[in-house]
Amino acid sequence: MFTRSNRRTLTAAVVCAGALALGTPTMAGAVPAQQATTLTADAGVSAKGAEKAGQKSQGRPDHAGQSGRPDHAGQSGRPDHAGQSGKPDHAGQPGPPDHAKGKGKGKGKGPGHGGGEDSTGQTQCQFAPEGGEAEGSWDRDSLAGVAPDDLRIGNIAAGGGHHSDADYPDPFPSDPPYRDHLASEYSSVTHENYLKWEFVQPEQGVYDFEQADAVVAFAEANGMDLRGHALSWHSQNPDWLEEGDFTEAELREILEDHVRTVVSRYAGCIDQWDVANEIFQDDEAASIRDSENIWIRELGPEILDDVFTWAHEEDPEALLFYNDYNVDGLNAKADAYYDLIREQLERGVPVHGFGAQTHLSMQYGFDDSYQENLQRFDDLGIHTAVTEIDVRGEVDENDMMSPEDRAGAAERYATVLQACLEVSLCNSFTIWGTLDAQSWVPNTFPGEGDATVHEGDYERKPTYCIIQRTLVEHVEGASAWEDDASFEECRGILESAGL
Ligand code: G3I
Repeated sequence: MFTRSNRRTLTAAVVCAGALALGTPTMAGAVPAQQATTLTADAGVSAKGAEKAGQKSQGRPDHAGQSGRPDHAGQSGRPDHAGQSGKPDHAGQPGPPDHAKGKGKGKGKGPGHGGGEDSTGQTQCQFAPEGGEAEGSWDRDSLAGVAPDDLRIGNIAAGGGHHSDADYPDPFPSDPPYRDHLASEYSSVTHENYLKWEFVQPEQGVYDFEQADAVVAFAEANGMDLRGHALSWHSQNPDWLEEGDFTEAELREILEDHVRTVVSRYAGCIDQWDVANEIFQDDEAASIRDSENIWIRELGPEILDDVFTWAHEEDPEALLFYNDYNVDGLNAKADAYYDLIREQLERGVPVHGFGAQTHLSMQYGFDDSYQENLQRFDDLGIHTAVTEIDVRGEVDENDMMSPEDRAGAAERYATVLQACLEVSLCNSFTIWGTLDAQSWVPNTFPGEGDATVHEGDYERKPTYCIIQRTLVEHVEGASAWEDDASFEECRGILESAGL
């Protein structure tokens, strides 16, 4: 088993082969297709982020002295596929097209897209603060601050979706303490809803990037990575698309335009994209979602090759992922992804990653083959990621699970994180939500909740502390956890929880 410390070596050899709520979209920031302008968006930048901008890393020794972005896998700057030749068992394959060809191929790549290149030839994010993206710095008593330097710990920028009907405003744009919390704990961020089709293209050909841009600018100002979610999906598509009467050729053009427009806008900013989300069903055969998913239904599964290729052409440095739920072990759905990705790699399709959302419930069992599942994708030479973890359960009148379920949830968080730590190219661990009151869970599963790692007012739950302990023990050993005064609070929380 490879450990984090030798991941750098491994990675050099093992590389990828290959709307604002639709109710009343505010159209401020809307731009016509293909005419995105270069913005100096600063909305959403936390106070801490402003301090961090331009600083060298202070809180994370692993990043000290690096130039450019925090390092995913022993590479300086963004995860870089350029010039890499692929894993031995993929040798002889053409590899992902254009990995080493640089930018500028796509039709969406015109003036105003992307932010140019830096002195190392890497694409600069047009939303980075002047002087370049800030280096992240995190306190030792945080999650990102104790993570290995090649593992991002993420959370979502909450907003859109059910928040539009909630009796509080969208958390990300409206709540500075919330943003400060995100920036102080996490090294990666995913738009919860703002990058989905219904928010980005609420009317045909009219793009609205206002909220999405703000999240990107926030991440850049705070030295955080970005996971882009999602370029194609069966859900949260706008009515004009789902109810439109389009020919195959028109639909294909709509999809291509959307993918190229969105990916090129965030070239150099978004590190990994969920290119195709939830394409398999939950039936025994894990059949492809060919009725709900408009793209697969109307254009056939072959369209997936094109979507990955378009995205890759627009940002050759971004890692391109499949992403799904109920793939938390060696099961039929995970098998379906494994087979599909293997075939695509053989054809030279630029697929770089497999994301396990990992929405778990204490009402169901947990497969002990989680790590084995990630490992087989790693063995294909692609990245893996825990993209949306939360662990819910039945809650009482205080919206808390029983102490037993809370302990069980903590153990599941730890098991999943440990699996990711053990799998060489598992590069991020993202929690889907910060405060339970804002989580999708109670909205979708009435009577269930307590799924995130913070109580209200941001107190730490045992789930938070077990993540911190797992990271510290993995990177620095058990004695660091036991002896370091920085971790006193969490040691006490875990002790009280019997963990
Ligand atoms: O569109 C309807 C609208 O017509 C209706 O008036 C309104 C009433 O509440 O609901 C609207 O749908 C909401 C949808 O967001 C629209 O944006 C749903 O109720 C609401 O539950 C939904 O929530 C989002 C959910 O994705 C939708 O699938 C959540 O905020 C978001 O956290 C969640 O995130 C997903 C990931 O993208 C993919 N993986 C699973 C994860 C959790 O479901």
